[in-house]
Amino acid sequence: MALLSLSDISFGIGQHQILRNIAFDVAEGDIVGLIGPNGSGKTTLFNVLSGFLKPSSGAILYREGDITALSAARRSRLGIGRVFQNFGIFRDMTLEENVLVALEALPKDRRIQLGDLRTVVGETLEMVGLSSHAKKKAGCLSGGQMRLLEIARTLKSGKELFLLDEPTAGVSPKMTGQVADLITALKREGKTVLIIEHDLPFIGSICDRVIVMDVGQIVLQGTPGEVKKSKELQEIYFGADPTT
Ligand SMILES: Nc1ncnc2c1ncn2[C@@H]1O[C@H](COP(=O)(O)OP(=O)(O)OP(=O)(O)O)[C@@H](O)[C@H]1O
Ligand SMILES: [Mg+2]
Repeated sequence: MALLSLSDISFGIGQHQILRNIAFDVAEGDIVGLIGPNGSGKTTLFNVLSGFLKPSSGAILYREGDITALSAARRSRLGIGRVFQNFGIFRDMTLEENVLVALEALPKDRRIQLGDLRTVVGETLEMVGLSSHAKKKAGCLSGGQMRLLEIARTLKSGKELFLLDEPTAGVSPKMTGQVADLITALKREGKTVLIIEHDLPFIGSICDRVIVMDVGQIVLQGTPGEVKKSKELQEIYFGADPTT
């Protein structure tokens, strides 16, 4: 059974068609990469999946239930979590407080499962190498550190399906490896991840499947190995096929 199933999703603003007939399934426990050139519609698709935009046609099923008409808040309560590109951190709160508010927002049963929240806060900051900044205001962090805080906080939030939009943008190579480890650890817990990235080696190293978008459509999907070998990817992503 697919955890998430999209059929015939289209979205446009005025005359501008941004997404066209997007259809794919995501199996529970899979890490699926979503790649494609700038402006191909990846973030817009995440906005549709998380409930911030309503598609003009099509349906989204989550655990076989139709969530197309549900609000972003309802989808979040159902277990769909999202890491935003530059958003979501409370700059006037300390790092500890930022993690704590996210944990406290969890439904009571999930909160109880986590055990002592202070311990979880410590583990969360440790995960991304930010323990020594625990008492600082989040606004003091660098862009990359803020992103790591946002990722760590979301990954600890007890969600089932994670939508990660360029989680490693602006993050140094060492921490990129750490983010990859966090994502594969989620997979070991049986969680499902849909991840947008421009870093193709990163995508190849963690994903079970890769979906390629171009001008609002899916043009290719397969294993990282299959996608990497394809001529279409070369043309779409690198502008030319170097073998011709
Ligand atoms: N609110 C909006 N109003 C008008 N056009 C929009 C809006 N949001 C997105 N678009 C357009 O939709 C297209 C897809 O944008 P989107 O942000 O989804 O691309 P993307 O694949 O995430 O790109 P990137 O890799 O650069 O993040 C672009 O042409 C963009 O200009
Ligand atoms: Mg984007």
